[in-house]
This record gives sequence, C-alpha cells and structure tokens, in this order.
Amino acid sequence: MSVRCLYLSRADVETVGLEMHAVIAALERMFLEKAAGRVEMPPKPGVHPGGDAFIHAMPALIPALRAAGVKWVSGFPANPKRGLPYISGLIVLNDVETGFPTAVMDCTWVTAKRTGAATAVAAKRLARPDSRAVGILGCGVQGRSNLEALNAVAEIREVRAYDLDPRAAGLFKDETEGAFSVRVEVVSSPRDAVQGCDIVVTAGPILKTPHATIGPGWLEPGAFASLVDYDSYWSREALAEVDKFCTDDPAQLEHAKTQGYFKDIPPVYAELAELVSGRKPGRESAVERTMACNLGLALDDMAVAPLVCERAAALGLGTWLDL
Ligand SMILES: NC(=O)c1ccc[n+]([C@@H]2O[C@H](COP(=O)([O-])OP(=O)(O)OC[C@H]3O[C@@H](n4cnc5c(N)ncnc54)[C@H](O)[C@@H]3O)[C@@H](O)[C@H]2O)c1
Repeated sequence: MSVRCLYLSRADVETVGLEMHAVIAALERMFLEKAAGRVEMPPKPGVHPGGDAFIHAMPALIPALRAAGVKWVSGFPANPKRGLPYISGLIVLNDVETGFPTAVMDCTWVTAKRTGAATAVAAKRLARPDSRAVGILGCGVQGRSNLEALNAVAEIREVRAYDLDPRAAGLFKDETEGAFSVRVEVVSSPRDAVQGCDIVVTAGPILKTPHATIGPGWLEPGAFASLVDYDSYWSREALAEVDKFCTDDPAQLEHAKTQGYFKDIPPVYAELAELVSGRKPGRESAVERTMACNLGLALDDMAVAPLVCERAAALGLGTWLDL
C-alpha cells in the first residue's frame, strides 16, 4: 500500500490565500472547543541555541475538527540582519484515524495570519466597538497581519506606525495604506503610536528582560492593547494600569514564567476561551483599559492548517510525496 503526504511550499500556502475572516472564524471555533475541554495541547518543548533564539515543537489535537499535528518553528532575532525572516518552520498534519502524516507545509503564512487573527478574536471582546485609531509598534510580518485582522473586525481609519527602523515603517505604510483603505502615519516615537490610539499592537522582538519603553499614562482609558511580543514593550507601571489582562492560555503563560519571561505582569482576568464562550464578560465599560497577551497556541495552527491543506488539494497545489 502506498501512502502519500501533501507537501506545500510557502508559495503554495500563499497561493491558497485563505481569507482572514475564515482564519478568525476557525480560531473562534477552536476556542469554543478549548472552553469545553475537548482539545489537547501540551506545553511547548523547545531547544534554545543561544540568546533569544528558539526552536519550539507545538503539538495539538482538536477532535471536533479532526485536526492533529505539530508545528516545528524557530525564531532567530539575528536573521533579519542576514536578510532572512525572523520566523521559519514546518507544520506536519496527521490523520486522526491512522496517525499517518497527511501533509507537511511551510508554517510562516499560518503563523503570521493566526497570530493576527488571535488579536482580532480578543479585540472583538475587549476593544471598544467604535475603535478607529490603531498604533502599531514593530512594522514587520506581525504588524501587517495584526492590522489586516483588526481591519476585518473593526472600522479602522487611522494607523500610527512606529518601527526602530524607519525604512520598515515606510514600507509598511506603502503596503498597507491602499490594501486596507486606512490612513497610515509613520511616527518617530513609540509614545506617538500609543497615546491617542484606541487599539495598540506591540510586535517587536520578544525579550526575557523587557525594554519596558511604554510608561504609565500612555495607554488611553478605554483602549485595548495586544502584546504580540509578550510584555517586552511594557513597563510594570503601565501594565499595572490595565483593568483586564487576558491571555490565550494561562498554563502556557505559567510555563513561560518558569523560563524567565513575564516577571512582572498583572493577574490574568480571563483566557480567550472564556471570553469567546461567554463564560466571562469582555469589556464592560468605555473607560476600561484591556489587554490580550496571546502567546500563540499550537491549537491556533491546528485550527487553520487543515483548512489551507483542504483548499490546496482542491486547487491541485503542492507536491504529493510517497511516505
Ligand atoms: N505571540 C505570538 O503568537 C507570536 C507569533 C509570531 C510572532 N510573534 C512575535 O512577534 C514579534 C514580531 O515578529 P515578526 O515576524 O513580525 O518579526 P519581523 O522581523 O517581521 O518584524 C519585527 C519588526 O520590529 C522592528 N523592531 C525591532 N525592535 C523594535 C522596537 N523596539 N520598536 C519597534 N520596532 C522594533 C524591526 O525593525 C522589524 O521591522 C516577534 O517578537 C515574534 O516572536 C509572536
């Protein structure tokens, strides 16, 4: 018996072009399963070749979606200086009946989009519905996908873009302004990308010791912030002002603490599964400061990757490999 497995390159995955609203819906379905305790996701084991570089294994199972597999993903902070992306890796999907691998795919597109989508899932419950102005700090892959996802769930009009590298912010403006019908202003200080914004996304490098640039009083009352780069950007005093600090998985947050991250964060109010299932209310007033610190879950990848594979197979994309 010959068993085959579908290999999808990064270009194949991008050609599938699964829409952002479908990625957001897949995550919401997954979070309902998580709320009901019907998923499996052990903490990420990993190896750490030096500095803040990591290579993590991210296994997960979502029986209701017949989704099982693992992401083997690396983040190397020195890569951009080499002209390489920070994130690289593969997703392997398995058949839930036989355990056989069914697909191997580049993980960068799924990682980018599902992380933006997790911000949108949180924003639907934690941001003010009339949010219009978004501050993006770190105008790379995540800056783009977070803006795309927020634009899918809110009427974003104005974006303030800050990057340590002004060329990156300029490129971000050129690429996103037309694509998302928003006005993008490149700002020259982090403060200008936080103050006066309804939604703030920090997406610079993840650091064990935060640079803690964002001070108290910068995040407006009524604003929502998504901490894609953990707490790296936020001072202890700024975090202490937050009324509702949420995360995608408290167990994973605790695990990260044992590795030296998150030394000084507020207590967790709710996890996204509790907000999506309605077990806990999200925003309850127009002046609350709310925050989501989503660490990125293997479950996110398992919710989205099978959809990409199904559509790729239907479109005849990819390369079938004999096992
Ligand atoms: N939480 C999650 O689920 C999740 C998932 C994927 C990536 N990430 C994290 O998101 C972050 C961004 O990843 P990416 O793929 O977009 O990387 P990227 O290299 O594409 O973009 C990062 C950008 O941040 C800029 N930058 C660096 N330091 C900065 C600072 N102090 N202030 C403002 N800008 C700064 C860089 O110039 C670059 O343009 C990384 O920390 C990554 O680990 C988180």
